[in-house]
Amino acid sequence: MEPADYDAWYDTPRGRWIGEAEFKLVSGLLAAKPGDSLLDVGCGTGWFARRFADRLQVTGLDPDAEWLAWARAHSPPAIRWLEGDARKLPFPDASFDHVLSIAALCFVEDERQAVAEIVRVAKRRFVIGWLNRASLLYREKGKGGGSGAYRGARWHAAAELRTFFAGLPVRDLKLRSAIFLPSGSRLARCVEQCTPAVLPWGGMLLLAGEKT
Ligand SMILES: C[S@@+](CC[C@H](N)C(=O)[O-])C[C@H]1O[C@@H](n2cnc3c(N)ncnc32)[C@H](O)[C@@H]1O
Repeated sequence: MEPADYDAWYDTPRGRWIGEAEFKLVSGLLAAKPGDSLLDVGCGTGWFARRFADRLQVTGLDPDAEWLAWARAHSPPAIRWLEGDARKLPFPDASFDHVLSIAALCFVEDERQAVAEIVRVAKRRFVIGWLNRASLLYREKGKGGGSGAYRGARWHAAAELRTFFAGLPVRDLKLRSAIFLPSGSRLARCVEQCTPAVLPWGGMLLLAGEKT
């Protein structure tokens, strides 16, 4: 998929709704203070990096040079963009106040190693977003190898995600989810507002925690 096509999805009514719902949840879980540093692992075209850039010092990392070039060309100059792999992050321990990764580790071989790297470079909090197998989004976009931007992604159950953190220096792990009805219709928006994010049936599963 071309980066411009991927990013254009965030400008559609459904894409904007999904992006904003996820951003709101991630933002609350990170609880970052103005001026804090944030690393976005697997930033893609940089939609989440840009969304945080008005308050935080943001670095976006992705292995895809073409997508990074697109992100750089369409973002404020204050954001730093780096080519790199989630499994071997090119930073010393505790380099960033917060680390974020949305819908990226589901494309990474050895997700456990990527999670360990995210925790290693975080100083305070991290939020990692995965695709949820126990969701309507999976029935719509995930079956049979997936379609569009979901093609080739792994979809997880909530219980599997916690096992990635076994033995890592983390505490206060919280599981939250968003995008319960993926259509983006008026009903979907109402359901989203009324459904507690602790219920693990949204299309996006977020695992948030604190570094110890
Ligand atoms: C579906 S996109 C998500 C992009 C962005 N996080 C978002 O939510 O819009 C998946 C991203 O994961 C990145 N990715 C794939 N393998 C990776 C790896 N080993 N390390 C870091 N990112 C990776 C891809 O290049 C792509 O940009």
